Amino acid sequence: MRPLVLCCLQILATVVSAEPAALQRPIVLDQTPVMNPVGPVVPPADQPKRPEPPPSQGGVLISDVMGRDRSINIFAGFTRDVGSVSSRLDNSSLNSTVLAPRNSAIEKLPRKPWEDPEDYKALGADAYEGGDGRDRAHRNIRRFVEAHVVPVSPWTEGEKATALLDGDRQIWWEMRDGIKVLQPDGIEIDSTASQVGNGEVWVLNGVRNYA
Ligand SMILES: *[C@@H]1O[C@H](CO)[C@@H](O)[C@H](O)[C@H]1NC(C)=O
Ligand SMILES: *[C@@H]1O[C@H](CO)[C@@H](O)[C@H](O)[C@H]1NC(C)=O
Repeated sequence: MRPLVLCCLQILATVVSAEPAALQRPIVLDQTPVMNPVGPVVPPADQPKRPEPPPSQGGVLISDVMGRDRSINIFAGFTRDVGSVSSRLDNSSLNSTVLAPRNSAIEKLPRKPWEDPEDYKALGADAYEGGDGRDRAHRNIRRFVEAHVVPVSPWTEGEKATALLDGDRQIWWEMRDGIKVLQPDGIEIDSTASQVGNGEVWVLNGVRNYA
């Protein structure tokens, strides 16, 4: 089972390596010697207010924001491992709605996203051994990621769409008792994490059953 562990470690390494930059940014800001540390939080009335950030984030792309929300950083790591998807999320002329399952939803899966029961049936416990095994695991991760990226944004309620995964069935979303639900799977959509120039990242409280 060593390759599985290696695969897992690689993904963890991706996740962990994404963290220091995010942690450093606020520290750098804190060093700006402008604020009196014991001064009032609200600026005095005679100081001009800072301008609001522009409402449109046209220049910011999904690839820029995917790693910022730590509750989805396992899925964000997967997307970086799939070239066709990561280049799409980095392309300002291709819109997407990313259906990013929460870390906890991925951790709860009965099998890892790179495992396929069919592989074990055909090849036994060694299904992910060696170079072929690694390719197999990567192909399964790609299917998992492609099932969670919809090449449509804005995506309106009730609009039928198909994720990037070849041969996948149609999906849509609707409001049910004030909750946004992905159909036909019935998965709760927790929030719109980010809205940027080439689409949106939505956080799912579950994982699509796409097999
Ligand atoms: C972005 O997508 C368009 C349309 O598919 C493509 O023509 C273009 O080459 C892509 N740009 C990059 C930088 O990949
Ligand atoms: C892509 O998304 C932007 C931002 O929401 C939107 O203005 C634009 O119309 C979308 N393009 C397409 C082809 O849907």
